[in-house]
Amino acid sequence: MGFCALIAILVLASPVARVFLLHYQKEMTMSASTAVIIGGSSGIGFATARHLLDLGYDVTITGRTPEHLMIAKKALGESVSSFLLDATDAAAIVQTFARINTFDHLILALGNSKGGGPFANAVLDDVRQGFEEKVFAHFACAQAALQFLTPGGSITFISAVSAHVAMPGTAGLGAANAAIAALVPTLASELRPLRVNAVSPGVIDTPWWDFFPVQQRAEVFADYAGKTPVGRVGNAQDIADAIAFLLGNTFITGQTLVVDGGLSLGH
Ligand SMILES: NC(=O)c1ccc[n+]([C@@H]2O[C@H](COP(=O)([O-])OP(=O)(O)OC[C@H]3O[C@@H](n4cnc5c(N)ncnc54)[C@H](OP(=O)(O)O)[C@@H]3O)[C@@H](O)[C@H]2O)c1
Repeated sequence: MGFCALIAILVLASPVARVFLLHYQKEMTMSASTAVIIGGSSGIGFATARHLLDLGYDVTITGRTPEHLMIAKKALGESVSSFLLDATDAAAIVQTFARINTFDHLILALGNSKGGGPFANAVLDDVRQGFEEKVFAHFACAQAALQFLTPGGSITFISAVSAHVAMPGTAGLGAANAAIAALVPTLASELRPLRVNAVSPGVIDTPWWDFFPVQQRAEVFADYAGKTPVGRVGNAQDIADAIAFLLGNTFITGQTLVVDGGLSLGH
């Protein structure tokens, strides 16, 4: 036996080395939880992907625009998987989940700003598109995911404070987000032991607001920051933290967690 081999045996025989070895083996054999984020190429979904990767999850993101998805994947690194998916296409949703195969957590972070604005001028087609691309897309993704989700896993929807707070100019958005929030307790009860929750963000600085010119957007954010008890609008990481909390806490189901800096408390 060579000198080096002898030293290795002596080191490995020590109690400290054995504890280290056992811990290392456990880490190697425990498989990471897997999370699929629909709408993971931007804003809240992207921040959630980055946060979950930091926490050790295996993460898959989907997005609708090839360029956005490519930029997001590059920023997140090689370990993230990505799929191009228009979540209004029911057949494509099923095909994408089949390619991903079994996973633990579904996070529905997609949506757009269609349907916003004063009620008197609301364009019904915009409101309909808002529902199509949020309510029906969330619904279809959650439904298609059922055969691929592990029983100990979860679904996390994203609603919005407009669902439960009187905010003039948000009737169309509020109606869609209220529909999402209404799904949560019923699905949590019906799909048990799968956990079903939602996050309800306040005003969050993401590309969702890009329909405003830069200056106007800054003014809108300043106005909301003034109305918000914590004195600022949110950032995507604020919501990513809440989503990770809902994934990790296995005693929470059927809940919508409001993360709005206190905006919904009123002025
Ligand atoms: N930002 C806020 O102030 C705020 C407040 C309350 C609630 N929310 C909700 O939070 C969710 C995320 O919003 P965000 O602020 O992160 O917006 P965002 O930055 O615009 O991100 C939206 C994501 O959804 C994807 N997406 C949109 N339509 C899709 C479709 N049909 N199929 C597949 N992917 C689609 C986008 O992909 P592409 O880029 O490829 O289109 C993008 O990855 C939305 O449901 C929004 O309503 C946002």
